[in-house]
Amino acid sequence: MKTKMCEMFGIEVPIFAFSHCRDVVAEVSKAGGMGVFGVAYKTAEQLDAELKWIDERVGGKPYGIDVLLPNKYEKLGEKQVTTDDLPQAQVEFMRRVLDEAGIPRLPEGDARTMVQESLDRINMTREQTEALLEVALRHPIKVVVSALGTPPRETVERLHGLGIKVGALAGKPQHAVRHKEAGVDFIVAQGMEAGGHTGKITSMILWPQVIDAVAPLPVLAAGGIGRGRQMAAAMALGAEGVWCGSIWLGTKESELTSDLKERFFAAGTEDTVQSRLRSGKPARVLRSKLSDAWERPDAPPFAPMPYQTLLMAEPHLRVERGKLKEWMYYPVGQVVGDMKAETTCRQVIYDMMSEFIEATERLGRLMQAD
Ligand SMILES: Cc1cc2nc3c(=O)[nH]c(=O)nc-3n(C[C@H](O)[C@H](O)[C@H](O)COP(=O)(O)O)c2cc1C
Repeated sequence: MKTKMCEMFGIEVPIFAFSHCRDVVAEVSKAGGMGVFGVAYKTAEQLDAELKWIDERVGGKPYGIDVLLPNKYEKLGEKQVTTDDLPQAQVEFMRRVLDEAGIPRLPEGDARTMVQESLDRINMTREQTEALLEVALRHPIKVVVSALGTPPRETVERLHGLGIKVGALAGKPQHAVRHKEAGVDFIVAQGMEAGGHTGKITSMILWPQVIDAVAPLPVLAAGGIGRGRQMAAAMALGAEGVWCGSIWLGTKESELTSDLKERFFAAGTEDTVQSRLRSGKPARVLRSKLSDAWERPDAPPFAPMPYQTLLMAEPHLRVERGKLKEWMYYPVGQVVGDMKAETTCRQVIYDMMSEFIEATERLGRLMQAD
């Protein structure tokens, strides 16, 4: 295909895959799209090893990273957060809920270390993010995408100096304009159907608003895209490509456990909720007993970001160890209702492109004279 985004990166199809899983990133880039690796929950050593793994597989095809690059960071202080720094009312609430449900506690003695290991992987300070970026710059990344905020202008300029393109996610036209002013090369306009952190505007309304607000800057449409007709709709509205997150979770290459995949395949579109339980900011996740617990009248307020993410490490570990499917939650968008069986990244792209072609041919026929 020929779109501004295909030309920017020399890719065959303007399909961008956000994923925390290196296999998805490598597979989508190899298949002619663009894999973008989410680095928020990696240590510097892990990131280095995983990017090396990707480098060895993509055969020079472009890929990128997605990083939390906001201008404002919650103050966490100089030291790494420990279990003692977590807000106790919320920690105790989660312990009570899981105890009442008979979910075993973490083994005494190991619990602290296990939770601390999870905390150490969560990168929420400016220093941690910058350290990850330094690691990534040792690899041939072609794009850096900023989640959750406008990237600092000096970072954008530095990346441009290295020949790396910069993008940023936006859930409102005003955010997209701010990103443009910071000098980014493209915007990802993400509607509220999406998995993960979302705003309140649906894709159908948001995409053209953002496209008009930042023109002629190219826009990738995100939120609710899992098939070719949705891609055709996005391109008809003026997008230069699509950015998908949820659809890859149901692939063979995805990092999810088989328990979570089964839950996804059984879920309908109405089984996702926007909740603050994951990070303190609204994010769409699969509804579960854990997300329901935070709606109870005795639930404390959500802790601010990043403390909510940090305090959820322990309940997450307890649920995972117990393999308690009904308690498992994970970010996923409304397209989960269309995900019914395991597939592969290559198949997703093939099916998306086939249906895209059918849809555009159908539209073309609507305009033909007799
Ligand atoms: C499991 C999961 C984790 C996500 N984590 C991030 C993240 O760390 N950074 C980010 O920019 N977007 C993140 N997102 C949002 C995606 O980048 C993307 O915008 C969204 O998934 C698009 O909508 P869709 O889920 O309908 O495909 C995440 C999405 C999912 C499903």
